[in-house]
Amino acid sequence: MSTPKIDIRNVQKSFGTKRVLENVNLTVEKGQSMVILGGSGSGKSVLLRCLLGLLAPDNGKILVDGVDTTRLNEQQRMQFMRKFGMLFQSGALFDSLSNWENIGFMLTQQGVKPSKVRQTAIDKLALVGLEPRVADQKPAELSGGMRKRVALARAICMEPEIILYDEPTTGLDPITSDVINDLILKLKEDLGVTSVTITHNMNSAFKIADRIAMLYMGKIIANGTVKEIKTSDNPYVTQFVNGLAQGPIKVGQR
Ligand SMILES: Nc1ncnc2c1ncn2[C@@H]1O[C@H](COP(=O)(O)OP(=O)(O)O)[C@@H](O)[C@H]1O
Ligand SMILES: [Mg+2]
Repeated sequence: MSTPKIDIRNVQKSFGTKRVLENVNLTVEKGQSMVILGGSGSGKSVLLRCLLGLLAPDNGKILVDGVDTTRLNEQQRMQFMRKFGMLFQSGALFDSLSNWENIGFMLTQQGVKPSKVRQTAIDKLALVGLEPRVADQKPAELSGGMRKRVALARAICMEPEIILYDEPTTGLDPITSDVINDLILKLKEDLGVTSVTITHNMNSAFKIADRIAMLYMGKIIANGTVKEIKTSDNPYVTQFVNGLAQGPIKVGQR
């Protein structure tokens, strides 16, 4: 077996006395689309932040291309971060900046000249199906779905090897959600990226996933192909997949 792109081993993370990640184990192969399901507050965003190095796990290891990312010095971390593109749950665009300035924020930080940044942003807009004129508009002038696409253009601006999507379709209507699903699939095909997507949208999960893992009470309690998850007899999985209020997961545990 080749080295997995991402290898999360025995990761634990607490905040004060509250243990959020109990013991997470998960591997993602190169080029694979991994979807993580889990209820609100189950630690999905915390896991992504650990993966990105924005939070340090209390215990365990996170290997990316075989390198333990929990033990990097400052310079190695900068290098490591370049592998990642992140679509934040909130979109997290700067309202005061134009869309091209948002998309090319990292390039500008690196001293790339504005005309080059703007042109790169326009190229990335094309990849997410938006016209060049969007570049000079501001996020507030766009619909929610278009803002998501601009955030996606920003996530791919530095040509990442891995894209992390935190609830990419939350807050979007079903049709717009499906446009985002198609874009995620297209980026996987066009750019060959590895991705980890957090969602509780089952349509989205089934459409974009090569594998689906379920996070519950700080552990990965199921991990399989779309077909395996669809036909799982794990009661936690079936309750989640079918969106049932009745089942082993009680309100208050999520
Ligand atoms: N920086 C933090 N400080 C304290 N508690 C946090 C912090 N980040 C997340 N948490 C807590 O960790 C739990 C999981 O949060 P999160 O990963 O955001 O959930 P979700 O699965 O909905 O993305 C929540 O109870 C949240 O309050
Ligand atoms: Mg979250």
